[in-house]
Amino acid sequence: MKTKNILTSISIILFFFSSCYYDKEDQLYPSSGICDSTAPATYASTMVPLFQQYCYSCHGGTASSGGGILMGTYATDKAMALNGSLYGSIAHASGYSPMPKGLNKMTDCQISKVKKWIDGGSLNN
Ligand code: HEC
Repeated sequence: MKTKNILTSISIILFFFSSCYYDKEDQLYPSSGICDSTAPATYASTMVPLFQQYCYSCHGGTASSGGGILMGTYATDKAMALNGSLYGSIAHASGYSPMPKGLNKMTDCQISKVKKWIDGGSLNN
């Protein structure tokens, strides 16, 4: 009886650990499964959600952990697109600090969407 109780407790604990793990992964990579590289890449519907997920925590308005480099408005994000550092940093090109700093690289699909927006003229669309 005692052994059975211990086994039951262990299974319950394992169950909670595994469900936590998956919850966390869903939070960390919410859009990685649904990135469609052929869909239009607009500032409001594509870039802002990506930047919120990967960049604004450090570079957004009041955040202080972005080394003084600001993002979070169309003007700041466009300036970063135009000077080449947006694409250089997320593509981990040589000569740029790899971003997002200390986190997983964005997926190829996400990077190609950012490139598509830049190549389309970094419009405020
Ligand atoms: C964990 C905090 C953090 C996150 C998240 C982050 N950055 Fe940074 N970023 C920094 C810091 C700190 C610096 C300044 C020091 C350096 O260059 O490494 C920096 C520098 C930069 C630079 C200048 C690099 C250069 O070589 O000129 C760019 C551009 C940049 N970040 C873009 C981004 C973009 C785009 C994202 C999202 C994909 C992002 N960062 C996510 C902290 C972060």
